[in-house]
Amino acid sequence: MLVLGIETSCDETAAAVVDERGAVRSDVIESQIRVHAPYGGIVPELASRDHLKNARPVIETALSRAGVALDEIAGIAVTSRPGLSGALLVGVQIARGLAFASELPLVGVDHLLGHLLAAFLVYPDVASAPPPAFPFVALLASGGHTALYRVDGPEHSQVRELGATRDDAAGEAFDKVAKLLGLGYPGGPVVDRLAHEGDPTRIELTAPMRAKNSLEFSFSGLKTSVARYVEQNGRPGNDQRLRDLCAAFQTRVVDALVHKTVVAATREGVSTIVFGGGVAANRQLRTQAARAAEKHGLSLCIPLPRACTDNAAMIAYAAVPRLLRGESDAAGLEVSPHTALPRVTRKGAGNR
Ligand code: KG4
Ligand code: ZN
Repeated sequence: MLVLGIETSCDETAAAVVDERGAVRSDVIESQIRVHAPYGGIVPELASRDHLKNARPVIETALSRAGVALDEIAGIAVTSRPGLSGALLVGVQIARGLAFASELPLVGVDHLLGHLLAAFLVYPDVASAPPPAFPFVALLASGGHTALYRVDGPEHSQVRELGATRDDAAGEAFDKVAKLLGLGYPGGPVVDRLAHEGDPTRIELTAPMRAKNSLEFSFSGLKTSVARYVEQNGRPGNDQRLRDLCAAFQTRVVDALVHKTVVAATREGVSTIVFGGGVAANRQLRTQAARAAEKHGLSLCIPLPRACTDNAAMIAYAAVPRLLRGESDAAGLEVSPHTALPRVTRKGAGNR
């Protein structure tokens, strides 16, 4: 069974063809970074317009790279939540039109479920690790969300949030710190690169990151701590101090993410941990997660970096169980800025 996935929830227009086992036949991503970079962040209106311009060529390329025509596709999957409403509407309307014209079933997918299942994707050009076994504990760390989940199966009713961030998402913290340091948007990849050449012990950033054993996160204090450092010491130029500051910041974030994932796995009594979302592309996080997994006897699954950041292959794969059951949202499919996964952490609630 082949599924066409379409993703337009944020600043990437993506389409992919994936089979029911997660084998990726094609994976096309058109990034809007150049559109938003001059503004230092995503401008929703510009995102919608750019999706509208790129969606058709991206979908056509995904089909042609997979070497299939629309009539060989068994169903269409589209991100319907969470995300920027205008951006989501573009993908959903195109998917509805395609499904109507080709009489294919259409399934709306929660973007977060896509990230949680990205570890199951298999790319033809890369030797892949075995997929994770259910149940597992997953850390999702992206630009919009950061939370730990217990995942008992591939459907959203089988996912339970264990704890989330009370303020900024981890990727948002990377982006804000990068902006503060004049490093442009998006910040994650640049901070990753600079931190690699820095010493995390030279600059001390003091900020509470929530109690060590709580499964909730907080990143806004750390961001403020970087801002305070810059106020007191001046903004570093392109020098070693910049690299050390990035390394100090990144180490604090990665330590918290990896530590709490291990705590969650122990508490849930599961032996597999999975990472997903753009921040899981971070090199230090990948290395530290591998070390922690080995130390605690856990098996670790981290998708390839290209499957961590936004893509449509994960969206196609997340629709497989519903398509196999013959379900379709068809004309009733609507968009929402909110996830359908139940939340337990109140964002912005402050320290309890
Ligand atoms: O999953 P994603 O592509 O989109 C969302 O659903 O938000 O995540 C994007 C976020 C951005 O905040 C970006 O700065 C961050 O992931 N990111 C990284 C890295 N690559 C992307 N953060 C740290 N290190 C990276 N290498
Ligand atoms: Zn995402």
